[in-house]
Amino acid sequence: MEQKILELRQRARDAIKNVTADLKELDNIRVKILGKKGELTSLLRGMSQLSAEDRPKIGKIVNEARAELEALIASKNDELKAKELSNKLASEKIDVTLPGRQVVTGNLHPLTLTLNRIKEIFLDMGYTIEEGPEVETDYYNFEALNLPKDHPARDMQDSFYITEDILVRTQTSPVQARTMESHESNSPIRMIAPGRVYRRDDYDASHSPMFTQVEGLVIDKGIRFSDLKGTLEHLLKEIFGKNAKARLRPSFFPFTEPSTEVDVSCMMCHCHDENCKVCHGSGWLEILGAGMVHPDVLKMSGYDPKIVSGFAFGLGVERIAMLTYGVDDLRLFYDNDVRFLQQFK
Ligand code: PHE
Repeated sequence: MEQKILELRQRARDAIKNVTADLKELDNIRVKILGKKGELTSLLRGMSQLSAEDRPKIGKIVNEARAELEALIASKNDELKAKELSNKLASEKIDVTLPGRQVVTGNLHPLTLTLNRIKEIFLDMGYTIEEGPEVETDYYNFEALNLPKDHPARDMQDSFYITEDILVRTQTSPVQARTMESHESNSPIRMIAPGRVYRRDDYDASHSPMFTQVEGLVIDKGIRFSDLKGTLEHLLKEIFGKNAKARLRPSFFPFTEPSTEVDVSCMMCHCHDENCKVCHGSGWLEILGAGMVHPDVLKMSGYDPKIVSGFAFGLGVERIAMLTYGVDDLRLFYDNDVRFLQQFK
């Protein structure tokens, strides 16, 4: 009997020592040995068969074994609990020195920013904003603008035709005719029409088959070329600042007479750098075409050139954006590379 108890005691010690992680495992051992039906408990029950003189001796041994094992279990229990807590603390640790997660916000495209600025300037002068379709009829894109079929000036704008009579507009000028038609004859108009236009062009640093224009049209009694000039000067000063220079060159458009093209001084190279991708060393960049509305254009849209006159202009938004932001390749506007776009926050 004594032998059995000592064996059990040793076995239990080893088992308790070997428990490494699990509190449940430790409890199983406790139940198996010290529980009501545990091994040590049933040994105790067997004591009734012992002789009277053996009983106190064995009883002492059993009690010692029980006391030791209980103490071992208690200290193992504390050890495991402490380990569990420190594991938990380690896995839930918050590193307050880590940099915060960046919230990515979008921003407006540089062409949108430029368009918004242009719109703002004209809205301040009392202009309305008109729209026209990008898929346009030959009539509005050309004929209503004094460009009958087979007119040689049609070659100035190589077009993408969809059918014989329908094309993607080569300019925003068709909105001039559409706006006049929607107005009562000879009533005043002061409008701009921003939008995309399409031409069969190369795709390089300064050309693109799709680009953006803002059309302008002012009609009223007594509108003169000096009104056009003053309006454009105001626009260019607002956009490029007081130091920007502008020059007007005589030009030709079938829908205006007289016509002009307007250049602004190149803000990329300043001193006529031959390698300047924007002005190629000329020091000037053409940004718009303009002129006094041709009498035939007024007539075709129901206005009477004997009563009213007007001016019109069409400006290139990409070119203005290139100069304002110092971008020397137009393709950057369409590549949608976030590294480029993010710079306009
Ligand atoms: N539509 C012309 C172009 O795209 C520009 C222009 C508009 C010229 C209005 C005169 C008047 O080249």
